[in-house]
Amino acid sequence: MKKNYQVLLKDLTLEEKAGLCSGGTFWDLRGVDRLGIPEIALTDGPHGLRKQRRDQSDHLGFMDSEPAICFPPAVGLASSWDRELVYQVGEALGEECLSHDVSVLLGPGINIKRSPLCGRNFEYFSEDPYLTAQMGAEQVKGTQSKGVGTSLKHFAVNNQETRRMTIDAKVSERALREIYLAAFEHIVKEAQPTTIMTSYNKVNGEYVNESKHLLQEVLRDEWGFEGVLVSDWLAVDNCINGIKAGHDVEMPTTGNYSPNKIVQAVKSGELLESELDKVVLRILALIDKTEITEKHGMYDQEAHHEFARQVAAETMVLLKNDDNILPLSQTDKVLLIGDLAQKPRYQGSGSSHIIPTKIENLHEELTKLMPEGSLTFTRGYEAELDVALSNHYLEEACELARQADKVILHLGLPARYEAEGLDRSHLNLPENQLELLSAVSSFNSNVIVVLSNGSAIDLSWDDQVKSILEAYLGGQASGGAIADILVGKVNPSAKLAESFPERLQDVSCYRDFPGVRDETVYTDDIFVGYRHYDKVGLPARYSFGHGLSYTNFTYSGLTISSKKMAADEQIEVTVTVTNTGQVRGKEIVQLYVLPLDATVPRPIKELKGFDKVALEPNESKDVTFVVNQETLKYFDSVANDWYVASGQYQLAVGKSAEQLLLKTNVTVENATPLKATVTRNTPVRDVAADPKKYAIARELFETWYSLIVREKTSDNDKVDTELGIATYNNMPLRGLINFSQGQLIDDEKLDELITKLNAVQ
Ligand code: BGC
Repeated sequence: MKKNYQVLLKDLTLEEKAGLCSGGTFWDLRGVDRLGIPEIALTDGPHGLRKQRRDQSDHLGFMDSEPAICFPPAVGLASSWDRELVYQVGEALGEECLSHDVSVLLGPGINIKRSPLCGRNFEYFSEDPYLTAQMGAEQVKGTQSKGVGTSLKHFAVNNQETRRMTIDAKVSERALREIYLAAFEHIVKEAQPTTIMTSYNKVNGEYVNESKHLLQEVLRDEWGFEGVLVSDWLAVDNCINGIKAGHDVEMPTTGNYSPNKIVQAVKSGELLESELDKVVLRILALIDKTEITEKHGMYDQEAHHEFARQVAAETMVLLKNDDNILPLSQTDKVLLIGDLAQKPRYQGSGSSHIIPTKIENLHEELTKLMPEGSLTFTRGYEAELDVALSNHYLEEACELARQADKVILHLGLPARYEAEGLDRSHLNLPENQLELLSAVSSFNSNVIVVLSNGSAIDLSWDDQVKSILEAYLGGQASGGAIADILVGKVNPSAKLAESFPERLQDVSCYRDFPGVRDETVYTDDIFVGYRHYDKVGLPARYSFGHGLSYTNFTYSGLTISSKKMAADEQIEVTVTVTNTGQVRGKEIVQLYVLPLDATVPRPIKELKGFDKVALEPNESKDVTFVVNQETLKYFDSVANDWYVASGQYQLAVGKSAEQLLLKTNVTVENATPLKATVTRNTPVRDVAADPKKYAIARELFETWYSLIVREKTSDNDKVDTELGIATYNNMPLRGLINFSQGQLIDDEKLDELITKLNAVQ
């Protein structure tokens, strides 16, 4: 039976309270022995457990940890677009934590992939906040269903590794709300993570762990976050400012250094003890919730490994498959080339680095699945080198390629290209691999490339090969999962959660990334990923949402429950999806919303729904999406609030951001006008756009327009209101006074009108 530690607040000394506000060790929250308050362990995360010995701890994954299952990192999980699967991964992680007495797993990481160069993109889900939110919420719910806590990270705008501990991200409130905070908001509201990890960086001039706006006003007051804010490791500059802003725990331990500062601050009156008490209560509630009171046996490592293999197969994206060259047939003579096929790269470097329980490699796993004697292997290149190839490898690969029916070339990025703490400077594969690719493809026209990398890379060579399987970093069972897909044991069903640009120069933040010394300005604002490519009319090489299958799906019979809706209503859109091919498969059906009448800059389209459906050959299923306020809103930077505008919206259902197959429109009627105070300087257009206000000012405006028309054309037989609105609507209300030399309206009457206009909302 757990204790209710919160009642102990009154028994704690000031020193003990201060002590609770930072770690007791590198990984544990401090306890208070005297009162039986236990330490609890917080451990990385996010796609496996990195539990280190207490005397051998680091936050960059250099030192050893207990073996655990390395599941596919977030880049892969997101590509599955499978909510249930990600929930199950969350559950499995929770079970592993229980076996190792870990109370809180430090993940998932939900930062937005603003640039493909970010060294930690493999640990994040997507460039799209909606997909990120859906995946992150499931992982949190899955882990927390086991009674284990999570730490949603890194809050917020931690989108680069260069100078990550000091960089100041200058970003508009709108981009914050629509892009960088949106997934945090959804997950807080939907899954209430037990903790949130505050990031290293500053946002708009303040360290996040000292930002009252982000921590208190947004996270706690607006979204209702009830949990504990834990700093990223060594992120805290001023723990007193942090506590005042609503921050809770500094990690890792600073010994007595920070606790002493807190005690001094209370004694000097700089910090109120009541402010400290709020923090302590939240920490005690966390301990209450996540303390592990019973001994759990070891989880079933074999079963978890098998599950990791199934998961991995759901995360690999078939980018290209000309002539249906995949799956391999049992009669194919296949050559497998690539160091990575024997020394797999299945995770990224840094704090998420897991010591796996075992590792599957592609060569061994494919050998098991192919008829004896049908598979030949040669190394081709050295995975950790990006210098010229040795002629021996090259010649052998080309010679063997000439004799093979099909060649599988396993390429990928070296580990040091993608690591916490480092951003990439280009998107290319190493030179030695590119040379090999072009040599081999000149000897065999049936080349299939399998890729291991954690983020988008340059694929400008894709016309040299028939097929590309983007296997990402699939976790410890990735070798087996790739083999399962190559032979058709598993039909690939993943789709890209990020765009692959044609060129690095096409990326939204190409000019700004990673910033100037300690400042980076988000000039791309809300136009990140496909929102950017759409807006500037650039194609991606492989678009967001793209991914092929060994079968085909058709979409038909789009229906909409109503063509009109009020801003606070909801409607439904339904589409029928049919498997028209020969094998069972899964299709990810995507809904995009296109605001057609937007009066403020908006993305051309945004993902607002998806579903993954499994279909036998000839089977059909209906997929229904709900369209509501959440789907249609944008953050109005002037009103500083979310808003659903009247007008037409296109609802497009398709296979990817570029393949929208069926479309329909809905009209949003009578949206409540944006709350804005009318003043002398309010333009006529803003009053005219609000039906209630327009009704009050109509007579005045019509008289005014009639004056305009008379003066302009001397043909005054008709008052052309439309022309008046279109050409003169930028005139501030005060302009009507001078325009009519005080005849139409004077200062006094304008003041009266303004009072009336402000009386209606
Ligand atoms: C990372 C966090 C991680 C922490 C503890 C930091 O370097 O940014 O994601 O949880 O270390 O290892």
